[in-house]
Amino acid sequence: MPSTNVLLSVVDLKKYFPVRGKRLFQKERPYLRANDGISLDIFQGETYGLVGESGCGKSTFGRTVLQLQKPTSGEVLYYGKGDKIDLARLKPTEMRALRRDLQIIFQDPYSSLNPRMTVGQIIEEGVATHKFFKRGSKEMQDYVLKIMEDCGLRSDMLHRYPHQFSGGQRQRVSIARALAVKPKFIVCDECVSALDVSIQSQILNLLVDLKKKEGLTYLFISHDLSVVRYLSDRIGVMYLGRIVEQGRAADVFENPRHPYTIALISAIPTVEKKKERQILLGGSMSSAVFPPKGCPFHTRCFMAQEICQRVPVPLVDVGNGHFAACHFAHKTTAEKRKIAYEKAEK
Ligand SMILES: Nc1ncnc2c1ncn2[C@@H]1O[C@H](COP(=O)(O)OP(=O)(O)O)[C@@H](O)[C@H]1O
Ligand SMILES: [Mg+2]
Repeated sequence: MPSTNVLLSVVDLKKYFPVRGKRLFQKERPYLRANDGISLDIFQGETYGLVGESGCGKSTFGRTVLQLQKPTSGEVLYYGKGDKIDLARLKPTEMRALRRDLQIIFQDPYSSLNPRMTVGQIIEEGVATHKFFKRGSKEMQDYVLKIMEDCGLRSDMLHRYPHQFSGGQRQRVSIARALAVKPKFIVCDECVSALDVSIQSQILNLLVDLKKKEGLTYLFISHDLSVVRYLSDRIGVMYLGRIVEQGRAADVFENPRHPYTIALISAIPTVEKKKERQILLGGSMSSAVFPPKGCPFHTRCFMAQEICQRVPVPLVDVGNGHFAACHFAHKTTAEKRKIAYEKAEK
């Protein structure tokens, strides 16, 4: 069960990438605003699901939170050591000491696993770095085998290489590697997206089991809403480098208030009979180099009015810890769907 203790508090996080090729007569150097002012809390023991189209800035967020790349500005407050620590202000050596607590699992375990190391060596590496046990010792081998067992890997796989495994097994290896250093927080970045659907659920079940057993906290990143729904306590919906909706998973799925979320949910394939109609969005995500003025979603929004082109909109509280960055946040899901359907008829 998630607690009310904040483990990680992200405050106005920005990550801008310089864009090459300055235009003539342009005053400032252009930047791609991959994360443009993100604030959110992640509670101890919860799974926070982060969703949004490809390119909206999810991976950038995961990497920047873990300080795998330096934020342009903002704070990442970590409470896992008792005191408040701003990860964004730590020196590399200080950050190294915290690495153990903060792990990441990527989409493609093939490129993130060293092909020249055996599974045993891969799992052992972090354990040795953090000096739990000596490399090559009996204790180390017992520990590695225990972790492998926890992750559903047979002991005879110890001396095999990543290429000898299936995609699902390779993902188990990268989970084992992350888990072996006893982390507190794991970013799962599209970690089942490359797998067949049947294998996906096995890996998701493993992540859910391990979380319970080890008291972990996840930031679960995926472009696939059905995956996120399955295991998230809360959900954040990202668009063009910002959080546009956030709330408890059930609230966001049953009562989405941002037109973007409403459209995303309508596109989830479902076996249920009473499926709502799909709402198709016009156009594609705007450029994060020259984001639209006002609400960044107005260029594709079926609700858009004149105000949306002019006035930026913060996250509006609609109750129960549910927020939507929409000028019409208080209009119900049903009212918004009706407007979308009417627009589609025209
Ligand atoms: N290292 C980088 N340098 C320049 N641009 C980047 C870099 N990393 C990501 N981007 C850009 O930032 C935006 C967000 O990317 P990303 O965070 O990978 O999105 P997502 O994970 O949601 O698909 C994209 O436009 C991407 O091209
Ligand atoms: Mg990504």
